[in-house]
Amino acid sequence: MHDQTLLRPCWYVALPAGQLKAGAMKPLTILGEQILFGRDRAGKVFALKDFCPHRGMPLRYGTFDGCEVECCYHGWRFNTQGACTSIPSLVEEKTDIARIKTGTYPCAEADGLVWVFMASSQQPQPTLPPPAMPAPIPGGFTHIDSVLFPCHIDHAVIGLMDPSHGPFVHQSWWWRTKRSMHVKEKQFAPHGLGFRMVSHKPSSNSRAYRILGGSGERRTEIAFQLPGLRTEHITIGTKQVVLLTALTPIDEQRTMLHQFMHTDIGFVNAIRPLLTPFGKAFIRQDLTVVKRQQEGLIPGHPPLMLLGDADAQALWYYRLKKEFLAAEEDGRAFENPLKERTLRWRS
Ligand code: FES
Ligand SMILES: [Fe+2]
Repeated sequence: MHDQTLLRPCWYVALPAGQLKAGAMKPLTILGEQILFGRDRAGKVFALKDFCPHRGMPLRYGTFDGCEVECCYHGWRFNTQGACTSIPSLVEEKTDIARIKTGTYPCAEADGLVWVFMASSQQPQPTLPPPAMPAPIPGGFTHIDSVLFPCHIDHAVIGLMDPSHGPFVHQSWWWRTKRSMHVKEKQFAPHGLGFRMVSHKPSSNSRAYRILGGSGERRTEIAFQLPGLRTEHITIGTKQVVLLTALTPIDEQRTMLHQFMHTDIGFVNAIRPLLTPFGKAFIRQDLTVVKRQQEGLIPGHPPLMLLGDADAQALWYYRLKKEFLAAEEDGRAFENPLKERTLRWRS
């Protein structure tokens, strides 16, 4: 049985930045913790523990004036650093109310994403900014979709990186069919908190790539990093497309999948509204299998198998996770346990 611990300390994608307007709040559960995200009048994002220290009322039921959050129960007010600024019932202010606080989470906005840092007891504050993308994302990512996967993040990651379900789950006229299966050979190398598939020409049986058209050499580099970030960087001559899939655990049984895209290819941007349904349909095919799989993942069933090169990335994920947890436990730096390797599978 693999360790099902949800990883900390880590930056997680909380939500697309565009979904948080100035003066708005948005409550989310991440790693089992209730967090209230907001954006103040000046445009800065923040994240508070969604809990009023007075009598435990979730602050999400209160109001936000773009500067302070007011609890719905007795009207205590909190600034975006979590400090209490007003207690309406107090006649004489003998208490130093600024010492009353609700918790805060390190929160950052980058590339059109709102990130939250989920601390560990060893590391309450981040030492690094949120992970960098494979290329600059001017203007930020476009949000394609967010889908709730009713499974542990481990199954979501493995499903995401699994190369052999494609011809069975993603069969469609516009993508590929079982008949187009052939042997693939790909180079992999360790990369940050994960691994990358060394830059290659996209598979010739993917019609979606042809839609991109354009001239010039086409290369694709796919990378995975803990805790659940997959990036795909496609370059076509001087132009590029960057796809990001970010997995964020809600708790041990539920995971949010956020899908983003960025491109400087004008014509792709122009027809993006037409392409988005394909992206959504693709993710929903994965969602359907994950839901069905859950019916088989019940206590008493035999342990699962990871077999051959097609399942090597899943094995690597577990090895990376193990090393991450060991490094955290020992208070030392993460050492990527993977080696360069060529994998061969049929898909
Ligand atoms: S519970 Fe929030 S003010 Fe009383
Ligand atoms: Fe898939």
